[in-house]
Amino acid sequence: MKVAIVGCGTIADRYAPGIVDADCLELLATTDLDRERAGRLARAHGATAYGDLDTLLGDSDASLVVNLTSHAAHAPVTKQCLEEGAHVYSEKPLAMSATEAWGLVDLAAERGLGLGCAPISLAGSAQQRAWRYLREDRLGTVRTAYADCNIGRVTEWNESPESFLRAGPLYDGAIYPLSVLIGYFGPVVEVEASHSELLLGEHEHEGRSFAVETPDHVICVLRFADGPSVRLTASMYIPHRTRSFYDLELHGDEGSLHLGDAAAFDADGSVEFARLGREYRAVPSQRPSRDLTYASGIVEMAAAIEAGRGNYFNGARAAHLVSVIEAIERCADSGEPITVDSEGLERPAPLENDHNRASPSAVLGTIAGQEPGTESEASSEGVSMPPVGFGCSRYRGGDEYVDLRESIEVALDAGYRLLDCAELYGNEHRIGEILARPGSPDRETLFLLSKVWNTNHAPEHLQAACDRSREALGLETLDCYMLHWPAAWEHQGPLEDLAELSHEDATALTFPTDEAGDPVESDVTLAESWRAMESLVTEGKTRTLGVSNVSIAELERVFEIAEIPPRVVQVGRDPYAPREDLLAFCAERGIEVMAHSPLSAEGLLDESVLEAIADDHGVTPAQVLVRWNVESGTIPVPSSTSAEHVIENVDVFGFSLTEADHDRIATLEGTG
Ligand SMILES: NC(=O)c1ccc[n+]([C@@H]2O[C@H](COP(=O)([O-])OP(=O)(O)OC[C@H]3O[C@@H](n4cnc5c(N)ncnc54)[C@H](OP(=O)(O)O)[C@@H]3O)[C@@H](O)[C@H]2O)c1
Repeated sequence: MKVAIVGCGTIADRYAPGIVDADCLELLATTDLDRERAGRLARAHGATAYGDLDTLLGDSDASLVVNLTSHAAHAPVTKQCLEEGAHVYSEKPLAMSATEAWGLVDLAAERGLGLGCAPISLAGSAQQRAWRYLREDRLGTVRTAYADCNIGRVTEWNESPESFLRAGPLYDGAIYPLSVLIGYFGPVVEVEASHSELLLGEHEHEGRSFAVETPDHVICVLRFADGPSVRLTASMYIPHRTRSFYDLELHGDEGSLHLGDAAAFDADGSVEFARLGREYRAVPSQRPSRDLTYASGIVEMAAAIEAGRGNYFNGARAAHLVSVIEAIERCADSGEPITVDSEGLERPAPLENDHNRASPSAVLGTIAGQEPGTESEASSEGVSMPPVGFGCSRYRGGDEYVDLRESIEVALDAGYRLLDCAELYGNEHRIGEILARPGSPDRETLFLLSKVWNTNHAPEHLQAACDRSREALGLETLDCYMLHWPAAWEHQGPLEDLAELSHEDATALTFPTDEAGDPVESDVTLAESWRAMESLVTEGKTRTLGVSNVSIAELERVFEIAEIPPRVVQVGRDPYAPREDLLAFCAERGIEVMAHSPLSAEGLLDESVLEAIADDHGVTPAQVLVRWNVESGTIPVPSSTSAEHVIENVDVFGFSLTEADHDRIATLEGTG
């Protein structure tokens, strides 16, 4: 789509490179009241500068105008472009009055033209990540929020501050958190209270004096359609280097969420979650993240026009923002609450899908390429598993046990949604307690699997073991129940809450050995155990079945006897033993492969190959290993006792390994 820029000030220098880089856009023309500025921008990007807007609209082939003029000029320029038949993408605000803004929306609709408007912050990775937590109901009912936009003394950071000072902090500051909050909680329905004042008034900066008349400090309370009432502060008095520049903090019955910068464009924007009574912890990304550019909104709009679909940053939302700002101003003047009409305003769909299986191809460069609201199903029918899980085993080599309670809490806070549990780990009752606490993720967002231990393979013991695990975890139905190993050992009685026993007692119960120290096997056959496993599916005690620590030959045997085949296989997998043959076997049969012990092979985390790859991507060797598994189509279940490591291990969606990286990792095979 051929694009023209109207208004070639500072912000145009930020838009132009993104427009030039986008495959679907071509920067053709520029114009500005200052001809020299228009010429400079045009020369820098191979476009043609026009002396005025009339000539540009008459003579250039541009079909989409990007309106980057000063605040008060936005509406008249947009109107002229729409009247001349051009689609328009405008910098915020769409207009300086609601009547004008809605007039533009109507005009665009009448002419069948696209109308889009900044801000696009809601599409930012951090803002979408925070939204996922809200949709997962992690905060419970959100009743209130604090939003700050302290854009500071414009005279200090903008060479031409006059237009900003006239517009005030609502039109050029509040609009960012407001656009995000409207995405999360629907339109603003009422301005409950508002107070505005002029704190700075006339002032001087570097020898220039500025006469400010628009209030530069506003505090108001807004009610959103979904219920929360939000305190918003917008200020050109409080310095922009304050610690709460674009801070947004949401508070619900069961937790709080902090977004470090509601206006952030960068993928790594900070999002933290605190379950009630717990510390704030980082919320890592659960999907590939991407930085927004100023041009992202134009790319989205061009794609929407071409596809004949709605635009994510459409004019109606921008007009609603203007209505809200006007209502805040009226409320401050009258002291009375002001109702805001939001009838029929379409709600934006979230861009970040939950629990999607990440694949390298899911790294999307533009917003336009994403299908809002789509879920990518894992290949096997009915099994949709998160891309990374948390390993809940208390075993740490040799004779050591670790207590993972705090780590599991951190893992859930950090967004892990798959817990790898087992009867043998002895801590399912502890996990059940964690899952039952207020603010824990809802059951339907979790994938919970357990495994029957080798001493309980006889049908009646297997049934009882599954019942114990379900009860301890507090579940009606497991997502997957596995044979921990295909081999059956002599029964030693029920295995209950092993974590409460001494190491010796737990070992005696779980590892029956003969005089030579070998496991005492039982004569229960694999076929008998598998029949018992199948009955658990028919009785609704588990959705799927799986086998762990299994060879291809053993899997073939399971397939021979199975009426309900395994859907999930769990094996030790790392670059020393990548198990490609098993992966291929499982891929053919639609079986998901989980990689246990992905990090713990001796010396693995110190491999120079992994360290070099980690350095190239600015991540750690552990992240390279988790990512390598994700990109191989396997689901790693790393474990850790360190909160930092727990978070780091799931924060693997901001980078992709190259083919060369995969080749280098492949050289480790068989060397460990
Ligand atoms: N099916 C089976 O038979 C079977 C067998 C083994 C394991 N598993 C499953 O696989 C899970 C994981 O296996 P695993 O427990 O052997 O552990 P792992 O995840 O392979 O490795 C854990 C080790 O790596 C360290 N570590 C973790 N993250 C790190 C990071 N980012 N940087 C540096 N070091 C890091 C941990 O130390 P810190 O605690 O200090 O972070 C710990 O020493 C188990 O919990 C279990 O669910 C299943």
